[in-house]
Amino acid sequence: MRQSSLVVVANRLPLDDNVAPDGACEWRRSPGGLASALHAILEGTTATWVGWGGGIGAAPPLPDIGTLRLRPVALSEDELRGYYEGFANTTLWPLYHDAVEQPVFDRGWWETYRTVNRRFAEAAAEVAEPGAAVWVQDYHLQLVPQMIRELRPDVLIGFFMHVPFPPPELFMQLPRRLELLGGMLGADLVGFQREQAAHNVAQLAGKMLGARGADDAIIYDGRVVRTGAFPVSIDVTEMEALSARPYVLNQARQLKHDLGQHKKVLLSVDRLDYTKGIEHRLTAYSELLRDGRIKVRDTVMVQVAVPSRERVESYRGLKDRIEREVGRINGEYGRVGEPAIHYLNQPFDRADLAALYRTADVMVVTPLRDGMNLVAKEYVAARADDTGALVLSEFAGAAAELQDAFQVNPHDLDGLKKTLLDALDATPADLRRRMQAMRAHITENDIHAWARAYLSALDHTGQLARRLPRQRAVLADRA
Ligand code: ADP
Ligand code: F6P
Repeated sequence: MRQSSLVVVANRLPLDDNVAPDGACEWRRSPGGLASALHAILEGTTATWVGWGGGIGAAPPLPDIGTLRLRPVALSEDELRGYYEGFANTTLWPLYHDAVEQPVFDRGWWETYRTVNRRFAEAAAEVAEPGAAVWVQDYHLQLVPQMIRELRPDVLIGFFMHVPFPPPELFMQLPRRLELLGGMLGADLVGFQREQAAHNVAQLAGKMLGARGADDAIIYDGRVVRTGAFPVSIDVTEMEALSARPYVLNQARQLKHDLGQHKKVLLSVDRLDYTKGIEHRLTAYSELLRDGRIKVRDTVMVQVAVPSRERVESYRGLKDRIEREVGRINGEYGRVGEPAIHYLNQPFDRADLAALYRTADVMVVTPLRDGMNLVAKEYVAARADDTGALVLSEFAGAAAELQDAFQVNPHDLDGLKKTLLDALDATPADLRRRMQAMRAHITENDIHAWARAYLSALDHTGQLARRLPRQRAVLADRA
């Protein structure tokens, strides 16, 4: 068994469903922030990525992707339903996103979640070399840090939560809250997108586990668990280079021509998920048409909604509602050859996404709650000419960083309508100033900076752990 000094454990392996006949295997770049972020930093390293390969049943060994090694974890049909669709995406996902959809608590799902988490932990323990760093990702695998600690006390364990961590009063609803909190605190360093999440965890640890500590460290189980905010980002250089390619520029010209040369283009790009605020956005747009504040002859909307978690009931219902609403809006306001909304329920490759970003006068990113939202950062990276407006929800993690966006509360329909109009009517000088400020921020805080910040904090934690008694005493004094 080959072992690595860095092991990343994430629910999904980001590989193409089809391994070519010669065994070659390509990045699938599945939609989703986690795959986008990790792809950028792991490509070209000798790390091992432990994850689910996307199929059902036995997981065949997978070829390396360049130097990166893949260690697939198998899931049965029942496990897929109980662990991924059930506990991860019908219990934790809605609860962690402010319960914008009612979370479902099912005891059977919990057992499956625990069994599958154990399988991921065992796979990681197998491929970690002595003293390795094992970096566990996201809410699917919240029990894994503690499980790895039991299996491999010699390794340094990191955990990063890509989604929001909820306020105590929401987390407390979870029937298995103690195990979930303790599982995550099995890590040496627990990273979040925003400071508030670290604060929430510190409060919960005090209240439920009798732990002591502050927002940057918690003393639990005789150890110091470091916590902190590490806002995830994108490969800015890659997106800039991509959006300057002749193919992308041609595609953007063609799109502009097809959508209407003189029209202002509003664009949204989301996984088809109820946290993304698609319905609120459609309502705002439709009301602007109804009120005559915008007209289809000079404005058009493009909504890309990539299929996601399609067997989960709440996602199926959402898809039906969105499709009905798009049909209604086009029926009421569209004209022959001139729809009000272009709705695209399909995946796009990176170059075509970049062309869309280049075409959009206004990028509308209005989730009801989002850990970060990398689409917002991708749009900014693609606008190297400092044009374009970003409308951004206050409830996206990205809002803490992209303060020069047109920020909005997506629940406030009148506010949303007004902000869309402000963005459509903004002067080129105002847009340039905003875009330059946002571009400067993401250039400095790109995905490589994120990985460096997290991994050096993890390393530092490891060094501190070797001086644990002194460190613990210092913290205990402060707490
Ligand atoms: P989430 O992680 O909730 O899906 P993010 O906005 O952080 O949200 O990340 C979404 C990622 O998926 C981005 O990198 C984006 O480019 C990609 N993506 C979104 N829609 C599509 C699509 N239709 N086709 C391909 N990739 C997509
Ligand atoms: O960003 C949150 C997240 O759950 C990621 O873990 C994942 O990459 C993305 O959303 C897409 O979700 P899924 O893997 O369920 O398609």
